[in-house]
Amino acid sequence: VCSCFNVGVNQITAAVAAGCTSVDAIGATLKAGTNCGSCRSEIRAIIAANRVQAAE
Ligand code: FES
Repeated sequence: VCSCFNVGVNQITAAVAAGCTSVDAIGATLKAGTNCGSCRSEIRAIIAANRVQAAE
C-alpha cells in the first residue's frame, strides 16, 4: 500500500485491529501515509473495511 515506507495491507489491517482507526493514527504507528501522501486514500479504505468488521 505505502511504497515510501514499505507498509503492506497486512500491517495496516493489524494496526487497525490494534486500535488505529484514523489515517493519522496509522501514520503515527507505521509511518504509512506520512511522506508523499499518495497512499492515504488507500489507507483510509482499509481502515473503513476493517473497522466495520472489528465492530461486529
Ligand atoms: S506511498 Fe505512503 S507516504 Fe508515500
